[in-house]
Amino acid sequence: MLTLVVLYIFPKEFPLFVLIMTVANTVEARCCFKLLYAIVVVLLLHMSSPCIGCSERERQALLALKQGLVGDDGDLLFSWGREAQNKDCCQWDGVYCNNETGHVVKLDLGGIYLRGKISPKLIHLQHLEYLDLSFNDFNGSKIPDFIGSLSNLIYLSLSEANFGGQIPNQLGNLTHLQYLDLSFNEDFDSENFFHAKNLNWLPNLSSLKHLDLTSTNLSDVVGWLEAVNMLPKLTNLILQGCNLPPPIISSVSIMNSSNSLVHVDLSLNNLNSSIFQWLSGTHTNLVYLDLSENYFRGPSIPASFGNMSSLAHLSLYYSELEGGIPNSLAKLCRLRRLELYGNSLSGQLTNFVEILSECAQNTLEYLDIRGNNLSGRIPESIGQMSKLETIDFSQNSLEGVISETHFSKLSKLSYLDLSYNSLLLNFSFDWIPPFQLQVIYLKSCKMWRSSFPKWLQTQTNYTSLDISDAGISDTVPSSFWDLPQKLEVMDISHNQMRGTIGNIRLEFVSRLNLSWNQLEGPIPSILSKVLVLDLSHNNFSGAASFLCATKDSDLSFLDLSSNHVSGELPDCWIHFKKLVVLDLSNNYLFGKIPTTMGYLFSIETLRLSNNRFVGELPSQLKNCTKLTFFDLGENNLSCSIPEWLGASLPNLAILILRGNQFYRSIPPQLCHLTSVQILDLSMNNISGTIPKCLNNLIVLAQKGNSNITIKHFYTTGPDGIIVELYDDEASLTWKGVRSKYKSTLGLVKSIDLSSNKLIGEIPSEITNLVGLVSLNLSRNQLTGQIPPRIGMLQELDSLDLSRNQINGRIPNSLSQIDRISYLDLSENDLSGKIPIGTQLQSFGPSSYGGNPLLCGLPLLRTCTEEEKGPGQTVLVNQDDKDGLISQGFYISLGLGFAVGFWGVFGTLLFNRSCRYTYFNFWTCLTDWLYVKAEIIRQRMPNTR
Ligand SMILES: *[C@@H]1O[C@H](CO)[C@@H](O)[C@H](O)[C@H]1NC(C)=O
Ligand SMILES: *[C@@H]1O[C@H](CO)[C@@H](O)[C@H](O)[C@H]1NC(C)=O
Ligand SMILES: *[C@@H]1O[C@H](CO)[C@@H](O)[C@H](O)[C@H]1NC(C)=O
Ligand SMILES: *[C@@H]1O[C@H](CO)[C@@H](O)[C@H](O)[C@H]1NC(C)=O
Ligand SMILES: *[C@@H]1O[C@H](CO)[C@@H](O)[C@H](O)[C@H]1NC(C)=O
Repeated sequence: MLTLVVLYIFPKEFPLFVLIMTVANTVEARCCFKLLYAIVVVLLLHMSSPCIGCSERERQALLALKQGLVGDDGDLLFSWGREAQNKDCCQWDGVYCNNETGHVVKLDLGGIYLRGKISPKLIHLQHLEYLDLSFNDFNGSKIPDFIGSLSNLIYLSLSEANFGGQIPNQLGNLTHLQYLDLSFNEDFDSENFFHAKNLNWLPNLSSLKHLDLTSTNLSDVVGWLEAVNMLPKLTNLILQGCNLPPPIISSVSIMNSSNSLVHVDLSLNNLNSSIFQWLSGTHTNLVYLDLSENYFRGPSIPASFGNMSSLAHLSLYYSELEGGIPNSLAKLCRLRRLELYGNSLSGQLTNFVEILSECAQNTLEYLDIRGNNLSGRIPESIGQMSKLETIDFSQNSLEGVISETHFSKLSKLSYLDLSYNSLLLNFSFDWIPPFQLQVIYLKSCKMWRSSFPKWLQTQTNYTSLDISDAGISDTVPSSFWDLPQKLEVMDISHNQMRGTIGNIRLEFVSRLNLSWNQLEGPIPSILSKVLVLDLSHNNFSGAASFLCATKDSDLSFLDLSSNHVSGELPDCWIHFKKLVVLDLSNNYLFGKIPTTMGYLFSIETLRLSNNRFVGELPSQLKNCTKLTFFDLGENNLSCSIPEWLGASLPNLAILILRGNQFYRSIPPQLCHLTSVQILDLSMNNISGTIPKCLNNLIVLAQKGNSNITIKHFYTTGPDGIIVELYDDEASLTWKGVRSKYKSTLGLVKSIDLSSNKLIGEIPSEITNLVGLVSLNLSRNQLTGQIPPRIGMLQELDSLDLSRNQINGRIPNSLSQIDRISYLDLSENDLSGKIPIGTQLQSFGPSSYGGNPLLCGLPLLRTCTEEEKGPGQTVLVNQDDKDGLISQGFYISLGLGFAVGFWGVFGTLLFNRSCRYTYFNFWTCLTDWLYVKAEIIRQRMPNTR
C-alpha cells in the first residue's frame, strides 16, 4: 500500500525508495519503519521540491498559453494557476504528463470555446505528442509556423478553430504525425479563407494515417492526388468541400496509389470522372467511399467499383451521373449503405435489386436511389433483405404492384418512401406488416381499389405520414384519428376521403394537411394547436370558433378556404400574432370583420373573399403593416374605400375589393400603394373620377418583374427553425374569363375598375403605367377620348374599355401594342377609321360593335374619305421623336413578348417547380430541407 502511494507521488524517486526499503528489511529494522519512512519522505520532498510533476519551463509555457486565451464564460482554465497548491501542471485540466518522465505529452483544449492567440512559448512543450485545439476561436489568424517545431506530435487537431490564411509548410516537420485534422476552419471573411497553395509538406508526413482537410480551399492544388499517394500508411482521407480540381491521372498515380486506404470522402468538390480511374486501381481495402456532390457531368458509375469487395458505404448522390446502375455494384456483398439519389440514372431497377438482395441480403441497411429516372418493377426479392432500415425509391419511373411479399422479412424497416412513381399498393385486407415505420411517404402511389390502407392502423410510431394523391376514395376509419403520439407532419390531401374527424389525438403535430378531400363535420378545437393547418377544399361545417380554444397560438398558416364554415368570425385574433397566411375564402361566414384582426401583426396574406361579410373595414387593420395580399372580394361590405388602405399598408401588392358595395370615390391615398401590382376594385358602387395620381404606382410604372410568384416565408416549430414557403394564388378576370393564378402571379400587373359608376375622362397619366398587362375600365360612365399615348402601354395584353361613353377616334398608337391579344372597345361613341395594324384587324367585329360611327376593317362599314382622317404617319413621327421606335426597341419588344407571353401562359400550362416538373412545392421544400439538414448534420462533429 505505502509502496503504491510513494510510487504515485514520487515516480522518479521510486528506485531510491525501494533501495531504502530493502536496506530497512535486511537490518531487521521493521519496528522503526515508521520513523525511517518519515525521514525518507522529508528527505525526498526536500530533494524533489523544484520539480514536482511537470518542469518549470513547461509550466511557464502553459501559463503563457493561458495568458493569450480567454473564454466566453470567464476563466475556463481556472485550474491552471500560479498558486502553490496549483503548482503541479500535470494536474491541470486538459494537461497530461508522461507518468515516467513527468513531461507534458498531451494537451487537450478542444471544445472549450477559447478565443485569442497561441503563445510561441508553446514550443517549450517539446515532448508534446497530442495537441487538440479544436472548437476554439483564433479569429481568422494563421496556424502559427512554430507548430512545426513540436516534432514529437503524433496527433494534431485544429478543427473548427477559426483559423484563416494559408496552411504553413512547417507542418511538414511533424514527421511522426499519424493524425491530422484541420477541418472546418471556415473564416467567412472571403479574403482570408483557409487554404493551401500546395501540399508539398504533406509527403513528409510518412506516418500519417488520418488526414482531414474538410472545407480547406485547395482549388489551386493541382498535385493533391500525387501528394496523397505518397502516404504509405494513410487509411482515412477526408477532403470534403475543398474545391478540389480534377486530378491529373497518370499511369504512375494509378499503379502507385496507396492500397492502405479504408475511408475516403471526396464529396462536395469539383472532381470529374478521372477520379474513377484512380479508385479503380488497387483500392481493395476501401470500406467507406463518398464521392457525392461532384460534377461528373454524365458518365455512368464504373462497373469496376464492383471490385471493391470490402465496401460497406457508397455515396454518389447529386453528382450528375447517367446510365444504368451496373449490376456489378450489386455484388458488393458487404454493402450496408448505398446512396445514389439525385442523379440521372436510368434503366431497369429489377435486375440490380435482385442481385443485391441475394448478395447483401444480410448486410444492406440503407438504400436511397430517389430522384433518378429508373424504371421497371421492384422485385419481391427485396423483401428478403432483413437488415433494411431505409428504402427510398421516390421520384423515379417505377411501376407495377407492391404487395406484402415485398416486405416479408423487413422487420427493421423504419423509413419508406415510394412517392412519385406509378406504383399500385395491394396488400391483403388484414395484413400486419413486420415493421413499425417512422416515416411513411407514399404520395401518388395508388391504393388498391381506392380503399383506405388498413395496415396503416398497425403503425403506431410514425412521425411523418404522406399519403396524398393516392386515389383513396373511402371513409377514413374513426380509429385512424387516434394518431401516434410522436406525429409531427401529416399530409393526406388530394384524395376523396370521407368521414368526420372525431376524437383526434395529437401532441407534437406541426403540419397537418387534410385539404382536397370530402371530410365533413365540425372542426375539432384541438387542431388550433397545429402550426401549419390546411383544411381547404373539404366539406367542413360548423363555426370557426374552434380557433379560440388556444391562447397564444403558434399557428403561422391557416387555410380553411372552400368549406362550409359558417357563422360570425370569432373575435379572438389577438392570440394569433404569428399568423402569416390566413385564408378563409369561399365559406359562409357573415357579420362584421372583427376588430381584433388588427392584432395580426405578422399577417402577409389575408383572404376573406366570397363570404357574406357586411359593414365596414375595421380601421384596426391598418396595424397589419406586413400585408402584401389582401382579398376581400365577393362580400357585402359597404363603406367608402378607407384612406388608410393606401397610407398604412406600404407592402400591399395585391388588393382585391371586387364584388362588394364600396361607394364614394377612389381616395387619392390609394396612389401611395407603390408596391401594388394588382388593383381590383371592380363591381362596386364607386363613383367620381379616376385619380390622376395613378402614375405614382411605381411597380405598375415599371416593366417586368423579378419574381414570378408572390412568396411568403413562415416558420413552423415552436422554436421557429423550419422555414416554409407559400405562393399566393389569386383568381382574376382576365380577357373576360375568371381564372386562377399562382405560379405566375408575380407577372400579373393589372388594374380592374370595371362595373362601377366612374365618370369623367380616362386620365392621360395612366399611360405612364408601362408595366400594365391588363387594364379593364369597362362598364362605367367614362367620357372623353382614349388617351392618345395609350400605345405606351407596350406590355398590355388585355384592354377592355367597353360599355362607356368614350368618344373620338381610336388613337393610332393603339395599333403599336404588338402583344395585345384581347381588346374590347364595344358600346362606346367612338368614331372614324379603325387604325391599321396587324393586331387591331385580327380582333372580331364584336370588339368594336356598338360604335355606330366607327368604320374600316374588321367592321363591314367602309370609311368615307373624311372619316379616314389624318394618316398614321403623324403619330409615328411623334413617337419617333420620343425615341420609342428604334431597332433596340423592337428587339426588346420581341424578347419581351416571348418572355411575357410564355411567362404568363406557358407556365400556366407547364406548372413550374424546382427540380422535377411534376412535383409540387412540398416536395421541393422537403428536399431542400433534407439537404440543409444533411449538410448541418454532416458538419456536426460527433456524427462525422
Ligand atoms: C503510465 O500510463 C500509461 C497510460 O497512460 C499506463 O498504460 C502505464 O501502465 C503507466 N505506467 C506506469 C509505470 O504506471
Ligand atoms: C479579430 O480580427 C480582426 C481583423 O481580422 C480584428 O479587427 C479584431 O480586433 C480581432 N478580434 C480580436 C478579439 O482579436
Ligand atoms: C523545419 O525543418 C527545416 C529543415 O527541414 C528547418 O529549416 C526549419 O527551420 C524547420 N522549421 C521549424 C518550424 O522547425
Ligand atoms: C478558393 O480559392 C480560389 C483561388 O485561390 C478562389 O478563386 C475561390 O473563390 C476560393 N473559393 C472559396 C469558396 O473561398
Ligand atoms: C510511390 O510511392 C512511394 C511511397 O509509397 C514513394 O516513395 C514513391 O516516390 C512513389 N513513386 C512515384 C513514382 O510516385
